[in-house]
Amino acid sequence: MTEEWGSDFFGGLNYFPPEPVAGIGHILDAMAALPAFRDARQWVLANLRVPSGGSILEAGCGNGASHADLHGIVGPSGRIVGIDPTVGFIESARNRSKQHGWTNAAYETGDIRKLPRKENEFDGVFCDKVLIHAGPASAALREMSRVTRPGGGVGAIEWLPFSWSAPQIRSR
Ligand SMILES: C[S@@+](CC[C@H](N)C(=O)[O-])C[C@H]1O[C@@H](n2cnc3c(N)ncnc32)[C@H](O)[C@@H]1O
Repeated sequence: MTEEWGSDFFGGLNYFPPEPVAGIGHILDAMAALPAFRDARQWVLANLRVPSGGSILEAGCGNGASHADLHGIVGPSGRIVGIDPTVGFIESARNRSKQHGWTNAAYETGDIRKLPRKENEFDGVFCDKVLIHAGPASAALREMSRVTRPGGGVGAIEWLPFSWSAPQIRSR
C-alpha cells in the first residue's frame, strides 16, 4: 500500500444505483456469518478489552453486519458508533439497529483516514476488511489510534492478500 493510494471501488459505491449496493450488503452479511470471519472478529473484539458499559467504534462498518457482537460486549449501557463512507450501508445499519431496538448505536458517514471524532474518545476501535479498500493503511491506523483512549484497544482484521488479525493496546 502506498501513501498515494485512495479507496478502491468500495469508496465509490455512492455513485452506484441502490440495487448493487444492497446486493453487496447481503454479501457482507453472509461473510460476517462465516466461521473464519466470525471467529477472527470475535477474537479481535475480545482482545480490545472494552468493558461492559464502554464504547466501541467500527471504522468502515458497512451495514453493521457484526454489530450484534458489539452489543454483546458493551451491553445496553455502552455506546457503539459505526462510520462508513457508503450512504446506503449507513442507512442499512441504522435500519438494522432500529429493528433490534438498539438505542445506543449511532451511524454516520466518514472516512477511516479522517475520522470525524475526538481524540481519546473510545475504549476500543476496530476495522474489519477495510484497510485493503482504503489505503494507505498507515493513515487509517493512525486515525484509529488517535480516537482511542490511552490503554484502549485498536484492532484490524484483513483478508487479502494474506489474512491477519491484529489487536493492540494503545500505550500513550
Ligand atoms: C468489505 S466491506 C467491510 C464492511 C464491514 N466492516 C464488514 O465487515 O461487514 C469494506 C467497507 O469499507 C468501506 N470503505 C471504503 N473506503 C473507505 C474509507 N475511506 N473509509 C472507511 N470505510 C471505507 C466500504 O464502504 C465498505 O463498507
